[in-house]
Amino acid sequence: MSSKLKAGALFSGIGGFCIGFKNSNIDTVWAVEQDVRAVDTYKNNLDNVRVIADDIKKVSVEKNGLEPVDVLHAGFPCQSFSQAGGRKGFDDPRGQLFFEIIRLIKEFGKDKPSVLVFENSPYLKIGDNGSWFLKIEKEIKKAGYWFREANAHELDAFNVSIVPQKRNRLFMVAFSIKHFKNGKFDFPSEQGLGKKDLSKFVDFKKQQDDYYYLPENNRYFDMIKDHEIQDDCLYQLRKYLVRTKETNTCPTLTANMGQGGHNVPFIINDSRVRKLTEYECLRLQGFPNWFKFPESVPRANRYMQIGNAVAVPVAELLAQQVYKKINEERRTK
Ligand SMILES: C[S@@+](CC[C@H](N)C(=O)[O-])C[C@H]1O[C@@H](n2cnc3c(N)ncnc32)[C@H](O)[C@@H]1O
Repeated sequence: MSSKLKAGALFSGIGGFCIGFKNSNIDTVWAVEQDVRAVDTYKNNLDNVRVIADDIKKVSVEKNGLEPVDVLHAGFPCQSFSQAGGRKGFDDPRGQLFFEIIRLIKEFGKDKPSVLVFENSPYLKIGDNGSWFLKIEKEIKKAGYWFREANAHELDAFNVSIVPQKRNRLFMVAFSIKHFKNGKFDFPSEQGLGKKDLSKFVDFKKQQDDYYYLPENNRYFDMIKDHEIQDDCLYQLRKYLVRTKETNTCPTLTANMGQGGHNVPFIINDSRVRKLTEYECLRLQGFPNWFKFPESVPRANRYMQIGNAVAVPVAELLAQQVYKKINEERRTK
């Protein structure tokens, strides 16, 4: 069996990538994340990782003594590259953060990571008539990596894992010219996973704290109660309407779940309407049962942190393919 590989994490959040990669023999040794509450959650679950709780703009390889790694992963902020966000691309300061990743890679000099794995919104590939993607491609190549359109691929958690959440994201994987003969990469394929079972992720029967239930005088209560009640089904509350989701399907869990209860999917539980608990949402993102929030992190932050995360099983499958390619093809250490 080949040995373990090391990773560095930028924009680590609560560690979706880190846990998935660890499951595939790639251990994250350091992580950068500026949100202190996300860092609290991360540290509560992933010890043995050195976490730098700072703005990436203030981090440098030399000042922070960042250890060279085999793989660098970064789910960089997607608001400016997503359809739902402002679509300002690199004109938005959050879009500019991509260049911080490139800066840090270059700072590693001869010890650059062999592989880069990035995650973002699928819209990044086509936004502004493809100019955002061209820019990203150019920057990655200039930094010394094999990277072309085929290295950017959409993966939906619903299609590649047992998780019943629709979560379509863009993954980009680049290989250093120094270490690899080419940049060919086999993304995980859809596996014919059979029937989804939402009841393994959401407890439709269990009574939860009152916090999770809509009061009966809430306007959504009547709207949702007017809907035909179906088993194993989630409801999404929008400003003026309630959407019934297909059975055994969870809509994309988003970072704005923390802002206002209506962004969290709801269920009908014993004639009452309740939102999913943060632990149900964690499971729907494929986080393991041992993952726990520290008491100090308020519920609103927990929901936001979950909505920001990379789905763990997708990260794991991707890391398996990266691990395989590194072991089969890397020329030098
Ligand atoms: C999409 S989430 C990352 C998900 C994560 N990579 C995972 O594997 O689950 C983006 C993260 O970037 C963090 N972030 C945003 N701006 C930052 C900055 N300037 N410096 C460091 N982290 C930042 C956010 O707090 C958020 O947790």
